[in-house]
Amino acid sequence: MAFFSLPSLTHPIHPTPVSSFSLKPLIYSSSPGFFSHPFRATRVTNQKSHAEASTCKAQKADHHQNPSTYDSISSSKSKCGKTSAGKFERRDVLLGLGGLYAATTLGTKQSSLALPVSPDIFNCTEATETRNGIPINCCPPSAAGYNDYTPSASEVYTRMPAHAVSHDYVKKYSSAITKMKNLSMSDPRNFYQQANVHCVYCDEGYPQLGFPDKKLEIHSSWLFFPWHRWYLYFFERICKNLLDDDTFTLPFWQWDDSSGMQIPSMFNDSKLSLYDCIRNPKHLPPKVVDLAYNGTDLPIDPNIQIQYNCCTMYTQMITQSSTPECFFGQPLLGGNDPDPGAGSIENIPHNCVHDWVGDPSQPNNEDMGVLYAAGRDPIFYAHHANVDRMWYIYDNVLKCKNIEDPDWLNSSFIFFNEAARPVRVTVKDSTNLAKLGYTYPDLPLSWLDCKPKARRRGLNPTKSAPKASEVMPMQLEKPVSFVVERPKKSRSGKEKAEAEEVLKIKGIQFDKGETVVFDVFVNEDDTSQSNPCKAESLGSFNSLAHGHSMKSTTSQCFAISEVLEELGADDFDSILVTLVPRRGAVTIGGIEITFVPKS
Ligand code: C2O
Repeated sequence: MAFFSLPSLTHPIHPTPVSSFSLKPLIYSSSPGFFSHPFRATRVTNQKSHAEASTCKAQKADHHQNPSTYDSISSSKSKCGKTSAGKFERRDVLLGLGGLYAATTLGTKQSSLALPVSPDIFNCTEATETRNGIPINCCPPSAAGYNDYTPSASEVYTRMPAHAVSHDYVKKYSSAITKMKNLSMSDPRNFYQQANVHCVYCDEGYPQLGFPDKKLEIHSSWLFFPWHRWYLYFFERICKNLLDDDTFTLPFWQWDDSSGMQIPSMFNDSKLSLYDCIRNPKHLPPKVVDLAYNGTDLPIDPNIQIQYNCCTMYTQMITQSSTPECFFGQPLLGGNDPDPGAGSIENIPHNCVHDWVGDPSQPNNEDMGVLYAAGRDPIFYAHHANVDRMWYIYDNVLKCKNIEDPDWLNSSFIFFNEAARPVRVTVKDSTNLAKLGYTYPDLPLSWLDCKPKARRRGLNPTKSAPKASEVMPMQLEKPVSFVVERPKKSRSGKEKAEAEEVLKIKGIQFDKGETVVFDVFVNEDDTSQSNPCKAESLGSFNSLAHGHSMKSTTSQCFAISEVLEELGADDFDSILVTLVPRRGAVTIGGIEITFVPKS
């Protein structure tokens, strides 16, 4: 038996020089030395039109490096205050509508043994194609014979912002990616096999170990942060190894700061292997990223977009990250259905940035705009390094608590290391960056000062609206407003410090083959457009397309204590919630307010 299983031959997966295709090459004509994208040929044959050829014209390199200062965070505030008291237990979470909450979230754990999640790597099944027929096939080489791995770094190296590194660094990183792309496809360190590792964990390639009929999915749950931390860890170690340089670290795309809110120039230089031509041509530099992108470009000035992004960062990192579950995502226990619910950062800006980079003229918004293909764009790893940095900031700057549940800590994943050997790692070994041998610089966080303001305080527009129970469950086809009762109002400062008031939207059903977005407003009568700098715009539900057609049922948390104070609505018995569909077909099962301990 061959140690490595080779990908199916129906998929032209080996890097092939463009000249061997009779199809008109879309991309490489102006840069013949550049790497061919092994998946490109497949997709070309599936395209309706080649009109977007210009999207892949070589972009003139912009080697200008923006200088950046590394001031220490003088203005940083401790948002959560780390306490060791109060172990985070789901069973203690209940206040308010306890019974309901218990029946949905806790029942699973109480009725079965507590079990961490692991992949069953011996039974990878191919999600063979996307919902519109593009081949996927992402089971990586066999991981048989894996060993357990515990990191114990002796040195700590600092990852740097992608827009502020030296020309030599860019050359070095690009040569690492070149080397990864040049490895044989049977080598799991090959760049496109690394992309497959992401694909297999997101398109339900592996069952959960011990639960053959339950698929493993590392998005939309509390596994999101640790899985991606480990993924980048091994990707970085493969780079270090191929460069023969232990000091090398991955760059991060600092989209949370105005200096980094466009595609970093290193990824936009067609002469480098960091380039990917399958991106939205309208979003190349100097376009400012929309961190809350929902598929439509806002007709606003770039400076206003920067302001919106600043408010989005405040909302997602501060307001919406006030409990460990809201930040990390909902518990995924062994034997449970995937997708219990994404955390704040996974939802926005993580999914939005993916969607914003992907090319809407591709069948599934490839590469970045669909999870099965996202890892084929080198910018993925810089995007995720910044997502990982948000966890670093949550932990080390805001001093908020990590999850302490043993089911989270003992969940495990299997990756390929720098020696191309399969290794099994646990979530608990991902929480200490010093042991992993890297850290992030302490940069100013301008978004700490971007708290959204109320458009109008004290508005109580609940009178004529139906109750939530009268409209749920519902297919969300047009904006719908309804009243949600609050189990408690006017809580004391102490009560608020102990528990967050959480609006939870449950039973959100859709097909993961496509991107789905809806906006959520509180006490707002003008819901034509959401404005991240207005407190009435509570946020959005955003689920990024996976590729493969799969039914999903999930939930989304919105922390509302701070928002209701800002809106002058803390003394009201109920709030008016409006859901506005923006993209994709979705059904909503129910909605409730609960009180969730902050630590
Ligand atoms: Cu695993 Cu950004 O996705």
